[in-house]
Amino acid sequence: MKKRYTITSALPYANGPIHIGHLAGAYIPADIYSRFLRLSGHDVCFVCGSDEHGAAIPIRAKKERTSAQNIIDKYHFIIKESFIDFGISFDNYSRTSSEIHHETASEFFKDLNDKNIFIEQESDQLYDSTENQFLADRFVEGECPKCNFDGAYGDQCESCGSTLNATELINPRSKLSGNKPTLKKTKHWFLPLNKFESFLKKWFLVEKKDEWKTNVFGQVKSWINEGLKPRAITRDLDWGIPVPIKGAEGKVLYVWFDAPIGYISSTKEWAKRKKIDWKPYWQDPKTELVHFIGKDNIVFHCIIFPSILKASGKYILPTNVPANEFLNLEGNKISTSKNWAIWLHEYLEDFPEMQDSLRYALTTNAPENKDNDFTWKDFQARNNNELVAILGNFINRVAVLTQKYYDSKVPSIGILNDNEQSLVNEVYSFPKKIGDSIEKFKFREAVNTMMDLARLGNKYLAEEEPWKLIKTDDSERVKTIMNISLQICGVLGLVCEPFLPNTSKKLKAIFNIKDTEWDSISKESPIIAKNIEKSSLIFRKIEDQEIELQLEKLNESKQ
Ligand code: 2FM
Ligand code: ZN
Repeated sequence: MKKRYTITSALPYANGPIHIGHLAGAYIPADIYSRFLRLSGHDVCFVCGSDEHGAAIPIRAKKERTSAQNIIDKYHFIIKESFIDFGISFDNYSRTSSEIHHETASEFFKDLNDKNIFIEQESDQLYDSTENQFLADRFVEGECPKCNFDGAYGDQCESCGSTLNATELINPRSKLSGNKPTLKKTKHWFLPLNKFESFLKKWFLVEKKDEWKTNVFGQVKSWINEGLKPRAITRDLDWGIPVPIKGAEGKVLYVWFDAPIGYISSTKEWAKRKKIDWKPYWQDPKTELVHFIGKDNIVFHCIIFPSILKASGKYILPTNVPANEFLNLEGNKISTSKNWAIWLHEYLEDFPEMQDSLRYALTTNAPENKDNDFTWKDFQARNNNELVAILGNFINRVAVLTQKYYDSKVPSIGILNDNEQSLVNEVYSFPKKIGDSIEKFKFREAVNTMMDLARLGNKYLAEEEPWKLIKTDDSERVKTIMNISLQICGVLGLVCEPFLPNTSKKLKAIFNIKDTEWDSISKESPIIAKNIEKSSLIFRKIEDQEIELQLEKLNESKQ
């Protein structure tokens, strides 16, 4: 049955470029999922956009001695470009500074305020008296009261993942002046998460218990069971969406209130362009809503945003939030401030046209259930030993032999022996196997299965040795072997698309593969045409020196 899907990837902060950790966490998995669903004929809306509010932006502006507006304008386009370069197939990539988003987030706030969902409360907040500014979120750092990590932000500890209130930090210090903050009274609007506890327990812990990934379930369960507290959703800041009611002058919406609403604004922008109604994508209970995020965003997508959606009374709740763990780099945590990262735009300068190699390495090594490590050596091995030696080798042999023996015409198939009959059945069982893994968010398993199909092709050629048979004049056998091998190339060209979109394009062009819906890939309906085109190598080997250069570059640029 065809379904409607709304798929979102975490909105990246427009305060810096994108690195491999971002790509592996929230973008490649979402792209594989979206591409697969589109290929299966479902109605998919895959959205994202730049997160342009919150303390991260003015802090970056201060560091670069420029304005917050300049920062978002610079990084929004760099980020958008990287996503295009790496084939992340968003239907829409928006930005939270857009008018449509300001309107949507303001309406959301006003609606919930009219429904008396929020609590207005005056409380003591951290204040930097040198800078005359209240400090929250990333404006303040200190020791985490839960794990004692000395570098926790005012709203979250990146070490243990706890959500915090700035006043809970031990020995807080202002990120603006470095001074110890004082306390000052100010009024804010709070979302009383405690009142959503029974809803969350029923929905998250009971009804959908078996659907969450274990890493997601474990984290959320412990938060809910610890007891939820009201959380401020406004801030004293001059950067963000003004709180749209009287008595809130000078205050803006907390970035984590407005950012997830950005998914809705982005959908609206897309629907407007397509001249269709956006509402079914967010309000029809038959729609599947799936949020792809990294593990530091779990609480916001499984507790806070669902509570906001629930409170509105009109919106659907996520079907799933398949959050990934973190990807480390050469044994250390990826860090923007320490420049310990592989930036996508820099990768492309050194490995032009090799987007699929990185997509492949990041998928086979995805931090699906635990933190994982990216190493340049492993990247080289994945590229050389798998993409080049298995997939590329098989494709190349089939294309070259077809050109050589049959002048690029696809030979007819003869009588299959028992082995070949079961081989052909096995080949056509791959789309379902791969699809089942993707549907369960097991992208590593899915991509490995795809590579197993190429392995199967290589094994078949190695066993049948058509290059020897051609000499003994067993031409009918050779035709059959080559026809089956070409069919395997056809299936590979289609099923590799979610993982390796550029490679798929090349294979479709070489083998003249017909676009075929995923479930219709079968031996009954041929997917390759009558002749193939001239081929060239689709992957290239990466030399040891190239890897050594990258390691040197990484270590030299470390701050
Ligand atoms: O952690 C981050 O990078 C946030 N900018 C993610 C926001 S996701 C969403 F809710 F918009
Ligand atoms: Zn902590």
